[in-house]
Amino acid sequence: MNSAMFDLTGKTALITGASRGIGAACAVLLAEHGAHVVITSRKQENLQQTTDTILAAGGQVTPIASHAGDTDATDRLLAAMEEGPGAPDILLSNAAANPYFGPMLEVEMSAVDKVIEVNLRGSFYLAREVARKMQRKDGGNIVLVSSVNGVRAGHWQGIYSISKAALMSMAKAMAREFAADGIRVNAVLPGLTDTRFAAALTQDEKILQGFLKQVPMNRIAQPEEIAAAVLFLVSPASSYVTGVCLPVDGGYLA
Ligand SMILES: NC(=O)c1ccc[n+]([C@@H]2O[C@H](COP(=O)([O-])OP(=O)(O)OC[C@H]3O[C@@H](n4cnc5c(N)ncnc54)[C@H](OP(=O)(O)O)[C@@H]3O)[C@@H](O)[C@H]2O)c1
Repeated sequence: MNSAMFDLTGKTALITGASRGIGAACAVLLAEHGAHVVITSRKQENLQQTTDTILAAGGQVTPIASHAGDTDATDRLLAAMEEGPGAPDILLSNAAANPYFGPMLEVEMSAVDKVIEVNLRGSFYLAREVARKMQRKDGGNIVLVSSVNGVRAGHWQGIYSISKAALMSMAKAMAREFAADGIRVNAVLPGLTDTRFAAALTQDEKILQGFLKQVPMNRIAQPEEIAAAVLFLVSPASSYVTGVCLPVDGGYLA
């Protein structure tokens, strides 16, 4: 294994939800390894910090505001990429919604719709449209950000967990269907990670300690640790890996 195995020079990588957290860490790492990263979030100004970090390190980045649940916005995003850095060679579908924490018996259907719209429908549409473009190139690489909750449903995170299980199935189904076009599709399953998304769990000491009892490594993940697994999955180092759902979870699912 040499460093060329992780070289992304000349590749364009689209990363959704990259203004902070796991998406931002992935953008920084993939740019460090030579990719031109196109980063999205709902608000253009929220992308400034990740953009500045990548530029300061000498990387290439294009920030574009785009709502992951809006298929028209996704069409505009992909059109802007064709005009600019080029169609994606790499896609990390990372943006997600989790608007409800509580029992499924009480959930409003508007919250169910939001989770399905962003996590599932939006992710499916984006991956499908990107795969069409990759098919016309010489293949590509797609990673869907699922969650350990896709395997073991999170307490009071029922709808979110259902959406993350569906993403695992999507990675496998797409991996089978797209392999003939040279497109690999995998999923990464972060455990509890130190981001704003998980703050309700990580910043409540009682909830955190209850969760850590189930984590053999007895700590939560840093976003950079998830990014390292993503780098593996999108680089030549994993050239024979497709249809895999990779937990990065300190042993939580073991
Ligand atoms: N943190 C964890 O413990 C954990 C565990 C398992 C899986 N995950 C998964 O990891 C992924 C990233 O989560 P994170 O923890 O890094 O969260 P985070 O720090 O809250 O970051 C979420 C990112 O997504 C963007 N975003 C949110 N809704 C969006 C939308 N509709 N369209 C476009 N961008 C949107 C946010 O930017 P704006 O607010 O600027 O739009 C932000 O850049 C998610 O798929 C999540 O389910 C996280």
